[in-house]
Amino acid sequence: MTDFKIGPLNHVGVAVPDIEAAMDTYRTLYGATDITTPFDMPAQGVKVCFVNLPNSQIELIEPLNEESPIWNFIQKNPKGGQHHVCFEVEDIHEAVREMKDRGATVLGEPRIGAHGTPIIFVHPKNSNGVLIELMETPKDGAH
Ligand code: CO
Repeated sequence: MTDFKIGPLNHVGVAVPDIEAAMDTYRTLYGATDITTPFDMPAQGVKVCFVNLPNSQIELIEPLNEESPIWNFIQKNPKGGQHHVCFEVEDIHEAVREMKDRGATVLGEPRIGAHGTPIIFVHPKNSNGVLIELMETPKDGAH
């Protein structure tokens, strides 16, 4: 094992049945002014946008179809709900290695996430029921 540790909270993922409606809620109810344009990630089966906040982001995620990994979540939580929490890591491959060495269940292989950097997910059973996304810190320092 190494002294690997998680870095800053990057975002909180929220699954929603209707991304435009969710954006409207953040705009009108909470006054959020900086919300990115939604874009499709067909390989992940989701449509995504970010509510930019001074210290973090909310990632809104809508399933693209019934094959989407978010689809079942929305079936169980029709109004949507908190889906995952994302921490930054320096090196995704080190993170995967360490997570496995420490006995965690890493879901799948590293893949490119919504920020364009590699991500993985750690099973909720390892973290008090919370699905954890680990994301390589963007090299330009942008979030
Ligand atoms: Co995420």
